[in-house]
Amino acid sequence: MAYSYVKYSVDDDKIAIVTINRPDAMNAFNSDVVGELQDCFDGIRENDSVRAVIVTGAGEKAFVAGADIKEMTDLNSVEAREFALRGQKLTNSIQYLGKPVVAAVNGYALGGGCELALACHIRYASANAIFGQPEVGLGIIPGWGGTQRLARLVGPSRATELIISGNRIDAAAAKNIGLVNDIFGQDELLDETKSFLKTVLKQGPRAVQLSLEAINRGMDVPLAEGLSLEADLFGVAFSTQDSREGTQAFIQKRKPDFSGE
Ligand code: CAA
Repeated sequence: MAYSYVKYSVDDDKIAIVTINRPDAMNAFNSDVVGELQDCFDGIRENDSVRAVIVTGAGEKAFVAGADIKEMTDLNSVEAREFALRGQKLTNSIQYLGKPVVAAVNGYALGGGCELALACHIRYASANAIFGQPEVGLGIIPGWGGTQRLARLVGPSRATELIISGNRIDAAAAKNIGLVNDIFGQDELLDETKSFLKTVLKQGPRAVQLSLEAINRGMDVPLAEGLSLEADLFGVAFSTQDSREGTQAFIQKRKPDFSGE
């Protein structure tokens, strides 16, 4: 996959690194960036040689500083709605990818950049990372899931505070409200993120996939329905070869050799 604004590589551990690469504009999302990222994630979904994904930004200043304001300024109402739906399709593709996706937030994550990070399953940040939904300062609102995912992640009160003020918060404040899981030095961020994913990749692959599905789908339904979904997927887990291998390996006091079946 060769792109103009997205760097893509897969390491020996089958971890893909997707880097938004438009550093001259703080990695802002113009239409080409959105199209390339969508294509990249569509490819990853179908690619069995990728088991997990890290999303990050090129350079040391920005993860993504949001939608390209210069491109957005002339949109009419219909085009703006289409733009929001395009971004929501992309962020949904990430959330429901079926493989773990971690945002390695290496600088500014503003507007659509914060929303991209929110769609990932976990967020790690470098110490210089800055988060915010500054849209109200532009006279618009978040359109790529910010009003919905931020409220679900940090609660409606914290989300409202951030969204209606447009305030930016640093990595420590973001960790404090649960927006990021952990903070690392800029130089360690990718290695620490990979190290976490290597632990994930030692687990039963089908079980990891089913866990992501239970959490993602469960967040959108009432508790009783979520528990019912969990019981169903618990049942599905017992139909996998991985469940037999994992339990037998424990009993036989050996390491499991999961096939992902
Ligand atoms: N769109 C277009 N260009 C952008 C951009 C954006 N979102 N963010 C930065 N850039 C460009 C700047 O225009 C500048 O380009 P020039 O050199 O050609 O002038 C270049 O990137 C460097 O930026 P700055 O000079 O501003 O760098 P800085 O270090 O002084 O500030 C910043 C960095 C705080 C990130 C600042 O650039 C900024 O506030 N950017 C806009 C952030 C923003 O409002 N994002 C929300 C967009 S709306 C949205 O995302 C809607 C949605 O829900 C999808």
